[in-house]
Amino acid sequence: MKKTKILVARAIFPEIIGRLEQYFDVEHNQADEPWSKQQLADKLRDKVGAFTTGAERIDADALAAAPQLKICANMAVGYNNFDVPAMTARQVLATNTPDVLTETTADFGFALLMATARRVAEGEHYLRAGKWKRWAYDMLAGSDIHGSTLGILGMGRIGQGIARRGAHGFGMNVIYHNRSRLTPEIEAQVKARYVSKEELLKTADHLVLVLPYSPASHHVIGAAELALMKPTANLVNIARGGIVDDAALALALRDKRIAAAGLDVFEGEPKVHPDLLTVPNVVLTPHIASATVPTRKAMANLAADNLIGFLVHGKALTPLNPEALN
Ligand code: GLV
Repeated sequence: MKKTKILVARAIFPEIIGRLEQYFDVEHNQADEPWSKQQLADKLRDKVGAFTTGAERIDADALAAAPQLKICANMAVGYNNFDVPAMTARQVLATNTPDVLTETTADFGFALLMATARRVAEGEHYLRAGKWKRWAYDMLAGSDIHGSTLGILGMGRIGQGIARRGAHGFGMNVIYHNRSRLTPEIEAQVKARYVSKEELLKTADHLVLVLPYSPASHHVIGAAELALMKPTANLVNIARGGIVDDAALALALRDKRIAAAGLDVFEGEPKVHPDLLTVPNVVLTPHIASATVPTRKAMANLAADNLIGFLVHGKALTPLNPEALN
């Protein structure tokens, strides 16, 4: 019997290709060649399923080129690379990889928060540049984490993981703002207090962004919001590029209108706004918040499980648009 054709758009753990090949005729990209939009569309033309990452845009054009496509399994919890309404209209199921990366990503939020507040990267550059000659009372003095106020914008699973770490691990006073308020039980568990966005901006010593990207969250942190923050505050973005206006942030950092920032995601990444590269008080990482080997394997396996679950057994594990099947 002929196997169903699927596409794996990016290089992935070889054992995942092996798992998928048990069920499917797999076209893969283990050479990790960058494909243009047109090349991706051409490769999707005869495929029934696709394994994608956040870098592949599945929109109306891609769908128009892929008449047989039934499912796209994203190896990411975020899915702003998918035009979900267009997928639903074409009855293409979209899946993502929630839960398996929550704790790893929350750990990394804390890594950036601490590196930023305690000026770890600046200190390392200072030392390597041979500038460390002797002790000085204010050398690379940063801000405290324990006992400070941790603000969280976006309070889904990862936001709650960060709140737990802050409250239980570091004795921080945790405040948050979100589209919807948590139940009193969850607020008590994570020890977080709901505040308005304005109070969050004005009060946080460390502000961590963990909300999904959508047109509604575009530049949620821009010049006006940065102006409300304390001059001693740190900003951490582990959510998505585009949530912060990177040009406005670079200016605020240069003028010390906020103390520092830690950024794992950027507008138009992998390009980084050139002004961010020239300010010292920012820690920059290349979108690696979920990058531990066990977590990346768990994400890849969940994306594969979604393809196998849906195309072989009729049920995906983590569908985003189950209404596509109606
Ligand atoms: C990473 O950014 C993800 O959405 O999983």
